[in-house]
Amino acid sequence: MNLNVKSAVWLRIAVVYFAVGVVLGVGMGASGDFTLSPAHAHINLLGWVSMGLFAVVNRLWPATSQGKLALVQFWLYNLALPVMLASLAAKLVGFTAVDPLLGLASVLVAVGVLLFAVQVWRTVAR
Ligand code: HEM
Repeated sequence: MNLNVKSAVWLRIAVVYFAVGVVLGVGMGASGDFTLSPAHAHINLLGWVSMGLFAVVNRLWPATSQGKLALVQFWLYNLALPVMLASLAAKLVGFTAVDPLLGLASVLVAVGVLLFAVQVWRTVAR
């Protein structure tokens, strides 16, 4: 994937999470039901804030967006995060059977973050 395209895709996905997270926040405020508060926080922070930062880092340090590791990190994070957030929301409303899925997806998201850290350390000075 072209490096500017990768940065733009991160940003486009990030603003979708931002919209969903903020709409959920307004919904919680309006209803007075804060059950999904941790889901709202993680949509905003792992979705909007973290992905927005991936976009900015990729744009400012283009080498961080290049290579196989960056591609694996992109797909791992983007596939695991929605599963983690959906299963977190399901757990919060009482479907505790999703616990193993939540655990697995959380570990994969964390691996995606570790890969990002490795990628930055490897390439940022180039
Ligand atoms: C219009 C925008 C937003 C609205 C209306 C909103 C609304 C809320 C509400 C109603 C709560 C629950 C408060 C409670 O439990 O007493 C909350 C919690 C929280 N929000 Fe937001 N929020 C917004 C944007 C954001 C953004 C942009 C972030 C992060 C980047 C964020 C991060 C958090 C965090 C960390 C919590 C605490 C979660 C917890 O204690 O489990 N919020 N928000």
